[in-house]
Amino acid sequence: MGVLMCPKVNTVAVRPARNLLGSLRVPGDKSISHRYAMLAALARGRSRFDNFAPGADCASTLGCVRALGCKVERDEKGSVVIDGLGAQLRPPAAPLDCGNSGSTMRMLSGILAAQPFSSELTGDESLSRRPMKRIIEPLTQMGAEIHSANGDCAPLRINGAKLRGIEYAPPVASAQVKTSVLFAGLLAEGKTTVAEPARTRDHGELALRAFGAAVEPTNVERTRNAVSIVGGQTLHALEAFVPGDISSAAFFLCAAAIFPESNLVIDGVLLNPTRSALLDVLTAMGSRISMVRVEESHGELVGTITLAPGQGRPVKIEKSLTALLIDELPVLAAIAPFTTGGLEVRDAGELRVKESDRLSAVTRNLQAMGAQVEQTDDGWRIPGGQHLHGAEIKSYDDHRIAMAFAVAALRADGETLIRNAECVAVSYPGFFEDLEGLVER
Ligand code: S3P
Repeated sequence: MGVLMCPKVNTVAVRPARNLLGSLRVPGDKSISHRYAMLAALARGRSRFDNFAPGADCASTLGCVRALGCKVERDEKGSVVIDGLGAQLRPPAAPLDCGNSGSTMRMLSGILAAQPFSSELTGDESLSRRPMKRIIEPLTQMGAEIHSANGDCAPLRINGAKLRGIEYAPPVASAQVKTSVLFAGLLAEGKTTVAEPARTRDHGELALRAFGAAVEPTNVERTRNAVSIVGGQTLHALEAFVPGDISSAAFFLCAAAIFPESNLVIDGVLLNPTRSALLDVLTAMGSRISMVRVEESHGELVGTITLAPGQGRPVKIEKSLTALLIDELPVLAAIAPFTTGGLEVRDAGELRVKESDRLSAVTRNLQAMGAQVEQTDDGWRIPGGQHLHGAEIKSYDDHRIAMAFAVAALRADGETLIRNAECVAVSYPGFFEDLEGLVER
């Protein structure tokens, strides 16, 4: 066995591989699953989602939706059924537990801000450190009253109110903030506009439309990244298949990219252009990628990706591209030493406030494996053509760090131990088994 779980200490041992070969489907997309579940709660009637994301993060959202009065059922095949209550939810009997999930806390806040009751949102240790001012500010401007620890952190106490629409230009490019304000805008009086500093994933807009709401691109002075919603629209229930999560597929695509003989096919994966910049980066790094059987499902593109590796050039990720790749940067950095040309990442300060400080977590783990890496204020410079050795990796209880270094470990000399690897269950409970199924030794 290449991957060994040691249940007592939650350590996974990863041995080097020769190749990565085969095909798979990845779990349903996390970003879409959160949004579908929240909007299903606000819709009239019964919604059903097949291939709903199986991780703990989306389970936190389902738990909150249930605590807000909706009937939620989940079967063993991964389908979720939610009976919506319309725009008015029920007051929760206890604090809403968001677990490790920033998406749950930030996006649900937009809905709770408009309810005629008070609610409390709590999270685990990591979530309780993450910045919430970014949603407190716009939701307060809209009329809600929100109390937080130190003005920025969970637990949040939200006193809902009748909201009014605003024009909001968030200082950070964040799809969670955009979606939170749009959800509040749906329940507010008048029109709400969000004008982002850089384009972020557009699942909030697409999901709102899929449930029957009109969301319009708007021309706001100085920015093209603006969308608007008029409050008071009624949502209808939705039946949908959630496409495979491209941020989970990223680990296998990156693993395949670093073995000269690999060949990988991933079916039914999300190809939304605001999420698929990884494919351009891997192409620049040398991979030959094709997309076939591309279809649209409720506004989202879905298809099959095939990847075969090759020789590439140095790659620089900066400015608006950084925002589009925010969840894929840890794994891109983890494979960068094995690429021909190396990688430079800039403008990625947001990585410091994810589930862990991903800038330092990546740097420390790469260094533990003997890599040369220069960490800057907001990114890294990582030369290509390096040889790494197996090492003891700290996950920092961050799912994407654990998975990124399981991938790097495949190309290192000797065994790698990934500590606290159980955190992969936040987004991908079967990750190590799926990886092992593709690896050749
Ligand atoms: C997400 C947006 C990103 C991403 C997170 C999911 C979303 O966060 O890192 O994993 O579903 O909107 P930010 O919006 O804070 O950048």
